[in-house]
Amino acid sequence: MAAAPETIYDAVGEVGIACLVQAFYAQVPTDEILGPMYVPAELPESERRLRDFLIYRFGGPDRYIVERGNPRLRIRHAPFVVDQIARNRWVQLMLHAIQSADFTPEISGALEAFFKETATFLINH
Ligand code: HEM
Repeated sequence: MAAAPETIYDAVGEVGIACLVQAFYAQVPTDEILGPMYVPAELPESERRLRDFLIYRFGGPDRYIVERGNPRLRIRHAPFVVDQIARNRWVQLMLHAIQSADFTPEISGALEAFFKETATFLINH
């Protein structure tokens, strides 16, 4: 059985999540679907927001909540066209990032399930 999201921080730590998010964002600027959705100068901040959100969501410190408040992810994604194609590309880049990390099969499976489900929940077009 896959690990619960809340246990991922204990398993991989802050460094594990930071590496994952870095590997994801490294692919964003040159991606023809996702790249244009982000402001280039703000990419480091975008990376930090996703990293801090995941640290919180995976059972670590709640810096994201302190700085940004309630995540309200559907509302925060409302300005962007998140259709099936954008959702699939986002998931594809994240699966690629997971594969590049050195996680156990249990943790990789839990991450995969969490990201697929959350990305589907964010579809708004
Ligand atoms: C489904 C495809 C997705 C697309 C196209 C997408 C796109 C974006 C874009 C363009 C931003 C604005 C950049 C920024 O200010 O950070 C953003 C922000 C964010 N996204 Fe996504 N995203 C997707 C899925 C996800 C998923 C699955 C998660 C969580 C697991 C997530 C978490 C976040 C967070 C935490 C922020 C920052 C919110 C804030 O505090 O302002 N996104 N996303």
